[in-house]
Amino acid sequence: MRIGIVTVSDRCFRGEREDKSGPAVAECVASLTTDTVYRLTPDEPERIAAALIELCDECACDVVFTTGGTGFAPRDVTPEATKRVIGREAPGVSEAIRARSMQITPKAMLSRAISGIRGRTLIVNLPGSPKAVRESVEVVLPVLPHAVETLSGDTTTCGGDYGK
Ligand code: MTE
Repeated sequence: MRIGIVTVSDRCFRGEREDKSGPAVAECVASLTTDTVYRLTPDEPERIAAALIELCDECACDVVFTTGGTGFAPRDVTPEATKRVIGREAPGVSEAIRARSMQITPKAMLSRAISGIRGRTLIVNLPGSPKAVRESVEVVLPVLPHAVETLSGDTTTCGGDYGK
């Protein structure tokens, strides 16, 4: 499994702050894969969308996590950039992250993160803090192998009523 990581932060992009959130994503997925591709963008919709398209279409990532830019600040535009590039929404992923995160902090409702599918890649927005990254990735980690299998067209591991 190949995982893309896009850190979205003006300050990190300008070198004013060290990116600790991108590496936190890599740490969280290390039990699944160490095949990760990393990009750092400013909070610009075009730059975010371009990084997502590159990681999905050229790098053939199975899953791409973005971190940052999901809040209410004027330059928080990661969900809007993500909406531009996905073909199908996957709302349950972000619903699950928010539901679990709400048990940790009510501020979780301030994340506008979305999830969706571009081709054979699942894109998942995460909030910007390393703490929020860890709390969020652990929610989706157990279902990622199955998500990737079904994205590639393999439904044999679904269980349930498939094929009836
Ligand atoms: N989710 C979890 N699990 N843990 C957190 O600490 N912080 C929240 C929220 N989601 C948080 C969280 C806060 S304070 C904000 S403002 C929003 O994510 C948006 O974060 P972002 O603008 O860095 O993307």
